[in-house]
Amino acid sequence: MLAVAIVADILAAQTPPVLEVPPQIRGGADQEPITPIPPPPAVDPRKRALGERLYNDVRLSAKGIFACASCHDISTNGASGRAASKSPGNDAPANRNPPLNTLSVFNAALSFRLDWEGRHRTLASQAEASIENPGSMDSDVATAASKLAADPDMAGQFFAAYGRGPDRDDILDALTTFERTLLTPGSRFDRWLGGDAAALSADELEGYRLFKSFGCSSCHQGVNVGGNLFQRQGVFRQLVATGPKVVRVPSLRNVATTSPYFHDGSAATLEDAVSRMAAAQLDRTLTDQQVGLLVAFLKTLTGNYRGSPVVGAAP
Ligand code: HEC
Ligand code: HEC
Repeated sequence: MLAVAIVADILAAQTPPVLEVPPQIRGGADQEPITPIPPPPAVDPRKRALGERLYNDVRLSAKGIFACASCHDISTNGASGRAASKSPGNDAPANRNPPLNTLSVFNAALSFRLDWEGRHRTLASQAEASIENPGSMDSDVATAASKLAADPDMAGQFFAAYGRGPDRDDILDALTTFERTLLTPGSRFDRWLGGDAAALSADELEGYRLFKSFGCSSCHQGVNVGGNLFQRQGVFRQLVATGPKVVRVPSLRNVATTSPYFHDGSAATLEDAVSRMAAAQLDRTLTDQQVGLLVAFLKTLTGNYRGSPVVGAAP
């Protein structure tokens, strides 16, 4: 009920019709509903390196088949290209029935809650749940710690980083230290916010203007262009029939690389996602041209990880 009331408030507070909104022609982060992705925080390099190693280590899963990286590939989009998560080459059960689309780990550290339903307030709680989830790693952190302790090289790396052998708290601390560095600054949109007027084309700026004037930014806003509110999905018309009705508004950072879309992965293209959003969340039917402009804007939200642009994953 609370979420419904929030939706009503937001819709009531919407910006006036399109023509009355002056076009944004200059950058300036202070007046915009979206703020730039900051550079990755300075962290202890030993904890970060250990966290990255753990992120790729299948010993965190019961059967030794899943690592975090199996579903969240940081060489592509921090997720996968599949509608539902499965590790390559095996038939492990999905995390839910029906399964939820894999969210990207990129910039997750900047969202106020984690997971589609926002069930976790911290990266550590989310990581522990991933390790315990029967549809995913199906283990527990203490079991993972004893497996890792039996590996002298791994145990040595824990001693170097934490002054003791692997345990639950340090495994979660190392993993989340690494996750906090998974930020993707430097998108063209963020460069525009930083004052580089040439970073966006006229069409992209027009797309951003529509994004604000239609009210997309009433839900998709803040540093992650989402990730800071709960909302009902399907306010005016049905969006997704199965799964949760109230979700954390997803981040649109790197969204051009994270198809398919929605919690059931039912929108194959960004065009489809944008026109279904407008209908379901704003009761608005968009022209193809408006969809094209909004998509042009969304494509400017692709940032860089370790200096290279985030790219899409193969389906
Ligand atoms: C079998 C595939 C799979 C594995 C393995 C996996 N995840 Fe995930 N991850 C998902 C799915 C699916 C979601 C969305 C789940 C949901 O919303 O309930 C998700 C969500 C997340 C999120 C939330 C992102 C956001 O924007 O809220 C983070 C962070 C994350 N995973 C990190 C990890 C870490 C760290 C590990 C390893 C300890 C891991 N995942 C292992 C599939 C996986
Ligand atoms: C009332 C809040 C609200 C408004 C307004 C809104 N959205 Fe959304 N948006 C959501 C929610 C909630 C979801 C997640 C739906 C789901 O899968 O359950 C979402 C999902 C999306 C996605 C898919 C993201 C992904 O990774 O799966 C895109 C793209 C998107 N919105 C773009 C837009 C655009 C463009 C507009 C304006 C035309 C808009 N949204 C307006 C709440 C909103």
